[in-house]
Amino acid sequence: MNWRIKPLDAILASAEKRSLTRSLGAFQLTMLGVGAIIGTGIFVLTAEAAQKAGPGMMASFVVAGFVCAVTALCYAELAAMVPVSGSAYTYSYAVLGELIAWIVGWALILEYTIAASAVSVGWSNYFVPLIQHSFNIHIPLYLSKGYFAGGFINVPAMFIAALVTSLLAIGTRESATVNAVLVCIKVAALILFCALALPVIKMSNFHPFAPLGALGIGGAAASIFFAYVGFDAVSTAAEETKNPQRNMPIGLIGSLLICTIFYLLVASGAIGSIGAQPVMDAAGQGIEPGTPEMLHACMDQAKQASLVCSDEPLAHVLREIGWDKVSRLIGLAAFLALPSVILMMMFGQTRVFFSMARDRLLPDALTKIHPRFQTPYVVTLITGSVVMCASAFFPVGKLADLSNGGTLAAFFAVALGVMILRRTAKERKRPFRTPAIMLVGPLALIGCLSLFLLLPLVTILVFFGWAALGLVVYKFYGYPRSTLSSSYVEPPENPPIA
Ligand code: ALA
Repeated sequence: MNWRIKPLDAILASAEKRSLTRSLGAFQLTMLGVGAIIGTGIFVLTAEAAQKAGPGMMASFVVAGFVCAVTALCYAELAAMVPVSGSAYTYSYAVLGELIAWIVGWALILEYTIAASAVSVGWSNYFVPLIQHSFNIHIPLYLSKGYFAGGFINVPAMFIAALVTSLLAIGTRESATVNAVLVCIKVAALILFCALALPVIKMSNFHPFAPLGALGIGGAAASIFFAYVGFDAVSTAAEETKNPQRNMPIGLIGSLLICTIFYLLVASGAIGSIGAQPVMDAAGQGIEPGTPEMLHACMDQAKQASLVCSDEPLAHVLREIGWDKVSRLIGLAAFLALPSVILMMMFGQTRVFFSMARDRLLPDALTKIHPRFQTPYVVTLITGSVVMCASAFFPVGKLADLSNGGTLAAFFAVALGVMILRRTAKERKRPFRTPAIMLVGPLALIGCLSLFLLLPLVTILVFFGWAALGLVVYKFYGYPRSTLSSSYVEPPENPPIA
């Protein structure tokens, strides 16, 4: 395998040929960003983060948000410079070469597909108690939790994944409009939560602040990073964006800023109102969240009221502080709004697949556009099927960690890419320049690498296993077929008439 690179101009030209319609503006993009970002991370994983870091998860939110902010600045430069579908995958192709691009694209599959699965499970976490409290309909554990989460198959998670797949297959425009409505519901729910939880904060609930030390805070940052995943999905819509040079950076940075503010407010409300101390084992160590040991510890009557034992922490906090009916509203909002996150994750995934197939690294059949809906429906249906399978069997925290592994790898490549391009393509037009790149770039690199290393060991190993599998596929499939391979012949623009 050699280090072949696809020139930027060729990327822009091939995008022109088989392109998607440009229909999204700055406001819609910011909406897409907020829609993709606020989700299972804040609605569900807050409990896992508290188990890892205690009240120190406030610091975890800041650390993870900071890493995302510096990476978003790099993303914005590349997204505006290469306004075609495929995000980190396409940028790496132009800068770091086909091999790295392939690995990044392969990592993005983990990010988007597994994230969509994680959010589907998070949705199920809220849906099951919601219909139980509201309609007294009880879904048994073996049908509401996956095999690796203590049940057998998560039917509600599979159902929502299937529904979102159909929505996406019908078309981007309709999906973006539905998304905007759902974003409003989600934001309203978080505002309501803050309005009720912040006034009853007790400062004593913040002590001890870091019961599991700096490593606990770091581990929680690596997991809660999931709460910020999604802003990059905005950049994958570049090819469908009007005036991407202006609108992309606004969409990326604006949505990240809005979400960070919300997270810090919600986390303080949750910690300050009912406390967030981790459950410890007999040896005084924090129990790993999502494990049977944790489930067992949480069965103890005295622990059931604690934040770290809840599957639906935000609704739980409101119940604990006496707002039972409102807690159902929060459940309802999660029920209605989390699908918008699944939608964005799957949207990102289909566009990455689409770009990889357009470069002939994946089968051509994937680039088929539906004649009526104008969507890449084949990739949409394939992605949907994988999301359904993963969400059926795995617990939310493990899926989120794995997705983070893929995301951090892709972000690392983007930050590296933007720094390299500053040297190798000095003259190229940059509608948005990352400020202080010599500081922001290295910070993004160090941040992504550190968070990656703070992920659980199993997650890191699965990530490398996935990357190794990707290399085998590339060697035997992508490499020989690529548009950059010596045997590739460009199809004629107008085939000769027989
Ligand atoms: N950031 C998204 C979420 O928290 C993926 O659900």
